[in-house]
Amino acid sequence: MRIAIDGPAASGKGTIAKGLAEHFHLPHLDTGMLYRAVGLSVRDVPELSFEDEAIVAARSIDPSRLDPDKLGQARVARLASRVARIPKVREALRAYQVDFANQPGGAVLDGRDIGTVICPDAEVKIFVTAGAETRARRRAEQMASQGYDIGYEEMLRQIESRDEADRNNPAGAFYMADDAHLLDTSQLDIEAALRAAIVIVNQAMAGQPGS
Ligand code: DC
Repeated sequence: MRIAIDGPAASGKGTIAKGLAEHFHLPHLDTGMLYRAVGLSVRDVPELSFEDEAIVAARSIDPSRLDPDKLGQARVARLASRVARIPKVREALRAYQVDFANQPGGAVLDGRDIGTVICPDAEVKIFVTAGAETRARRRAEQMASQGYDIGYEEMLRQIESRDEADRNNPAGAFYMADDAHLLDTSQLDIEAALRAAIVIVNQAMAGQPGS
């Protein structure tokens, strides 16, 4: 079973994807980490060679050696958003994601273009969303618990600016697939959101209409 999870930054898609993978005993790939790793590796590269170096980095990335602690930072997210606009970077990262999705037994992937580009024939697609204010509050609390005091207002500004950059990515396909199930987590805590996602998957696999 292939499960494609898409949605904007801090919507809860990563936690839901991880929870679904555990629940259904499937391997999980957070595809944002690939873009973050490419972004991090070109953080000090001058503007003139930024694009070329990002392409080289994307072609030589080793997905088995990603460090989620380093890659989770807001600065890295901004770099990831930049490199994600380069078509050759997306192309270089595509084969790994497609192979991961199509491995025997299935997989769970989360990102921005999983249900539309990477795995358009996934058995289950979920588009996870929440209002920008909710996402900013959640992410500010999460960062504070890790010792980074960014504050709600600044986080909201960052979330809105990243939404804008992602939405207008000329190289992306960041829309909800026609056959995706919409899961709005604005009013749900993470346990309730995961339960709702499990119901969606079970219904989809049973061939019933979704939520
Ligand atoms: O989900 P995230 O915050 O880790 O993603 C980081 C950036 O990578 C985000 O700005 C958009 C980009 N991204 C993408 O373009 N395609 C994906 N499948 C996943 C992430």
